[in-house]
Amino acid sequence: MLTRRNLLRLGVVAGGAALIPAAASIRSLGVRAEETGHVLGHGATAGHAMGHGSGTAVAARLNAPAVAPFSVPLPLPATLAPTSVLPDADVYALTTQQATAALLPGLPAPVLTYGGTFVGPTIRAKVGRKVIITHTNALTEETAVHLHGAHVAAAHDGFPTDVIPPGQSRTYEYPNQQLSATLWYHDHAHHREAEHVYRGLHGFYLLEDPAERRLRLPRGGYDIPIMLTDARFAEDGSLVFVPDDSGNRTTLLANGRPAPYLEVARRKYRLRLLNASNMRVYQLELGQNQQMVQIAGDGGLLPAPVPTTGIPLTPGERAEIVVDFSSYPQGTQLVLNDTLSGLPVLRFDVGQTAPDHSAVPSVLRPETTLPAATNVRDVEFAYDFALGWFTINGKLFDPNRVDATIQHGTTEIWRITNSTVPIGVPHNLHVHLVQFRVLDRDGVAVGPAERGLKDTVSVAPGETVRVQATFTGHLGKYVFHCHALDHSSMGMMAVFEVVP
Ligand code: C2O
Ligand code: CU
Ligand code: CU
Repeated sequence: MLTRRNLLRLGVVAGGAALIPAAASIRSLGVRAEETGHVLGHGATAGHAMGHGSGTAVAARLNAPAVAPFSVPLPLPATLAPTSVLPDADVYALTTQQATAALLPGLPAPVLTYGGTFVGPTIRAKVGRKVIITHTNALTEETAVHLHGAHVAAAHDGFPTDVIPPGQSRTYEYPNQQLSATLWYHDHAHHREAEHVYRGLHGFYLLEDPAERRLRLPRGGYDIPIMLTDARFAEDGSLVFVPDDSGNRTTLLANGRPAPYLEVARRKYRLRLLNASNMRVYQLELGQNQQMVQIAGDGGLLPAPVPTTGIPLTPGERAEIVVDFSSYPQGTQLVLNDTLSGLPVLRFDVGQTAPDHSAVPSVLRPETTLPAATNVRDVEFAYDFALGWFTINGKLFDPNRVDATIQHGTTEIWRITNSTVPIGVPHNLHVHLVQFRVLDRDGVAVGPAERGLKDTVSVAPGETVRVQATFTGHLGKYVFHCHALDHSSMGMMAVFEVVP
C-alpha cells in the first residue's frame, strides 16, 4: 500500500512541481529553450530541419543532445508471426526482456521490450478468431500483460496483482469476440505499469474484420500504426523515469523515434494514432490547419467519417484518420504538430502518385440504439490534500477491495466528475472489459468524433462526463482507472466486479 511517506520519498506530494530539485528545473528550462527553436524552425518553412544553433548548445550538455527534427525515418513495428496456427486460433510467444535501443540516433541505451524492440511487434488478429499468447517474463521484476480495449475473461485481463513472476511464463487467451478496433497491449503490474510502459512495454494489437474490406479503406502498406510517446533522456540517451515528472518529458517520439519523417505516396493513407504516453495530452494538427478525416476512435469505426483539423488525444486513446496526400504536390512536407506543446510529432514527405482504389464511405459503422440503463454510478476524481495524491471516490487503489459490484448483463451510466479544479489537473477514465458510449459532457451531447465506441474518455477539471456501458460476457474482477499512468500507478485506480 502507498503511504504518505512513500509518496514523499518519491517527491510527488502536493505541489510536486515546486519540489523538483533545482538541477531538474534548470534542465527543463534548457530543454524549453531548444523547443522554442524547433517551433520557430518548422513554423517558418514547413519541413525545415533545424541545426543546433549555439544558443541551444548549453541545453544540450545539461540533457540529452538535441536532435534535429525530421532526421530519422519513422520505423514501422514488425508484425509478430504465430508460432503455430490452429483451426480456430493463432498461437504466439513473446518474451519481456531488456534490450538496447537507440531512441536518440547514435545513443544506444537500455529499454524494456516485448520481444526486443521499444515498440513491441504488432499482433494482427481477426474478429472471431482466437489469439493465444504466451508471455515469458525475463525481467527481474513482476509484469502483467493487459490488452487495452479488449473484451476478455478476468483471468486473462492482466489484473495488477495477477502477475508473471520473474523467470516465469503465462498464457493469455483473447477471444476477439468484439468489433474491429486498434487495441494495444501494455504492462499493468501493480505500481509498476507507469515505469514499465514508459520504458517500452507497449505494442499494437490490430483487430481486423475481413467483412470490412468492402468499405475499401486504405490497407496494407497504406495503413500505418503510429505510437506517440514522450520521454526524458539523460545525456547518454538513456530514459529517465521520475514519477509525475511529465513536464520534463519533452522529447516526443513516434514509433520510438524523435520527430521522424515518413515518405508517403500521393494517395490516401489510414493512420492509426495511439497516445501511449504516460501523461501527455496531444492536440494534433496537420500542417497549417490541413484537413484530416477521422474514421475511428478507441473502439473502432465511427458511425460516419468526421472531417477535422484537430485531433485531441489523452493517454490510452486512439484516433484513426485518413489523409489524402494526393491533394498536395510532390515534394510537399507536411508536419503533424502537437499544438499544446508546440512540438512536431512527425513529418510526411509527399512523393509520387500511386494508384489508389481506396475510399472513405459516408457510412462506416451505423450507430446502434442503446439499451436502457438500470443503474447510475458516480466516479469522482479528486485530489486528497492530506494524502497528497489523486483518488477515485476518495480512495487509493486497493486490489483487494471491490469498489463497484455490477450485475452481469446490466447497462449502467457512469457519471464521471473531475473535481481537481483548484489544481486544474486533467484526467481520463479507462474501463476494462467494456467499450462504452460517451453520452454527454456537462449535459451537452458529444460531437461526432466521440460517437463511436470508446474505452477511455477525457474529463477536464470541473467537467462531468457521462458514459454508458453494458457489462456482459464475463464475470470477475477488473479495474478502471485514470490512464495517466503515473496517476494510476500511484493509486488512481479502482476495482469493479461483475457478478451473476
Ligand atoms: Cu491501457 Cu488498465 O489500461
Ligand atoms: Cu485497458
Ligand atoms: Cu489522472
